[in-house]
Amino acid sequence: MTYTKDTEKHITTKVLSVMKGRGEKITMLTAYDFLTARFLDAVGIEVILVGDSLGNVIQGNETTIPVTLEEMIYHTKIVKRAVKNAIVVSDMTFMSYQVGTKEAIQNCGRVMKETGCDAVKMEGGDYIAETVRRVVEIGIPVMGHLGLTPQSINKFGSYKTRGKEKDEADKIFEDSLLLEKSGAFAIVLEKIPAPLGEKISKSLKIPTIGIGAGPDCDGQVLVTHDMLGMVEDFKPRFVRRYGNLATEMKSAFSEYIKDVKSGSFPSNEESYF
Ligand code: KIV
Repeated sequence: MTYTKDTEKHITTKVLSVMKGRGEKITMLTAYDFLTARFLDAVGIEVILVGDSLGNVIQGNETTIPVTLEEMIYHTKIVKRAVKNAIVVSDMTFMSYQVGTKEAIQNCGRVMKETGCDAVKMEGGDYIAETVRRVVEIGIPVMGHLGLTPQSINKFGSYKTRGKEKDEADKIFEDSLLLEKSGAFAIVLEKIPAPLGEKISKSLKIPTIGIGAGPDCDGQVLVTHDMLGMVEDFKPRFVRRYGNLATEMKSAFSEYIKDVKSGSFPSNEESYF
């Protein structure tokens, strides 16, 4: 992102808006720990999401539903400590913002105050629009999330593509307009048909960040563990693997076991005398 490299300026929500205006793609990946966040920041990622996907890839849960606000605060603090340039977005957990606007404001405020994150992300459309409006109004930037919203998995009943039928596509489109009107600075579009991703991206002034939403979104996001090839049994069509870390890690662990068992580790050079 030339803007940042030239000026060493911290990326802001305004910068993302400028990028959309210039047709410059926005990059976003997840991080839940210090080193990953530091690597992402070092290579110039614009947005780091401390996603509640940590419920899956860190905690081994089936869904993101059990993740607690305390756990998100813990991981966001760690990530924020590592990051100088990127925007750090913290996911609001299931039931931390759905009960009512007052509770949502308190919880968003807590997350921002205790972690130092730059923004929060919330899943949903019309039913959270007023909450988004109030949270933004008090000074907390909000990223929306539409399409496949994993916190509603029990309502959907599956992780299938959303918005294939006209009614649902129209609803996702209307919700995106509503979120923009409510003051969201960007919207994640997850697992929707590419033409719908394009229509929303072209209709909104704020950037869209796609995950399985086609090439016309203003930016793209993946779960870092998926793109690194760490989750062997999860390879949906929208994940491109940029590494094969599961194989590499298992191979390194096996080598270590072999070397300890055979007595070749530690060597004299690796010992103190
Ligand atoms: O929790 C997460 O990692 C997310 C991304 C899939 C966008 O919400």
